Amino acid sequence: MKFKRSILITGGAGFIGSHVVRRFVKAYPEYRIINLDKLTYAGNLDNLRDIENAPNYRFFKADICDFETVSDLMRQEKVDGVIHLAAESHVDRSIKDPFTFARTNVMGTLSLLQAARLLWEGRNYEGCFFYHISTDEVYGALPMDGTLFTEKTPYSPHSPYSASKASSDHFVRAFHDTYGMPAVVTNCSNNYGPYQFPEKLIPLFINNIRHRKPLPVYGRGENVRDWLYVGDHAAAIDLIFHRGAAGETYNIGGFNEWKNIDLIKLMIATVDRLLGRPVGADMDLITYVTDRAGHDLRYAIDSSKLRDNLGWKPSVTFEEGLEQTVRWYLENGAWLDAVTSGAYLSYYEEMYAGR
Ligand code: NAD
Ligand code: TYD
Repeated sequence: MKFKRSILITGGAGFIGSHVVRRFVKAYPEYRIINLDKLTYAGNLDNLRDIENAPNYRFFKADICDFETVSDLMRQEKVDGVIHLAAESHVDRSIKDPFTFARTNVMGTLSLLQAARLLWEGRNYEGCFFYHISTDEVYGALPMDGTLFTEKTPYSPHSPYSASKASSDHFVRAFHDTYGMPAVVTNCSNNYGPYQFPEKLIPLFINNIRHRKPLPVYGRGENVRDWLYVGDHAAAIDLIFHRGAAGETYNIGGFNEWKNIDLIKLMIATVDRLLGRPVGADMDLITYVTDRAGHDLRYAIDSSKLRDNLGWKPSVTFEEGLEQTVRWYLENGAWLDAVTSGAYLSYYEEMYAGR
């Protein structure tokens, strides 16, 4: 079959990437979707079982830092658009191991940009060629005063994770400004939903409540995060990839701020209700622990540019999204058990040995 476009999605076996891959494979049968992923601890092909045999989908195991391999693949597949999500994504891991974050997020992004540039230069592609998915954490921390991050907020990253993402954002803009490569950057707030690795707050706590394990609340639980349902992020990515303007930055968020402790209490009440436990029975699992080093106080996104320019808005309220998410994790206990035991990693080693 001849495809209209050939789109490379990196990090498609991860949390957000798997939602983006599924959306594109289903919505655009006329596109060939190539998912390139290294399958780190966070990459899990179980996230994509329902579409793995689709005729317009192909998985390719590779490291974005491997310039030759990525470059060859892009040439062979005649890639004419890149959506880049592959990254090390967890702040606590970046505090313990900043080098891995610099390697993948900075050098890996640069390697991918260079491969994309060699392919793009001298050819006539229309629209956004390189779409870089980033985070609101590059803007730093906000005080508790109602201010929001806009696209003009100066970068001020604090964690090794956000410093590495900030650096990669700058490289993407440099490739646009220096070589003219049509590139877009989006900075999104905290995502939640199915298939998120249970090291992040929401799936970790749902899993712990399920097993009646302590819930480690950093500091006093006063920090604020702005939560967006992952399906709404994937919808925004689809819209911006097709209609966003090259050289532009768009913030993505649902104007949905929650103080950690309030969100945690809502999660406990929801899990208890859905498991038929007396509501609030698990409140005693809340355990205040030493604060995260350099813990950003508050993130909050102003996404009015995206709303006004491209007409995007979130499709679910937080209450609906959280309820669906809790239900999904409770109904998919086997997925949680597999990823927390690491069983899926040995499965990959066997499956991809020698490739
Ligand atoms: P994730 O950790 O769930 O998935 C990352 C994926 O990248 C995994 O499949 C992993 O195997 C792959 N990967 C890691 N290193 C790689 C390498 N060197 N080469 C190839 N593949 C590699 O992350 P996520 O939460 O889905 O985040 C995806 C992207 O969105 C990241 O760029 C992240 O910075 C950004 N983002 C995440 C959030 C959030 O709340 N999770 C919010 C805003 C932006
Ligand atoms: P997280 O999901 O790690 O996302 P990020 O740090 O990228 O915002 O954490 C969300 C918030 O929850 C953050 O303020 C840190 C806090 N947190 C805890 O209190 N305990 C935990 O065990 C985790 C993982 C996070």
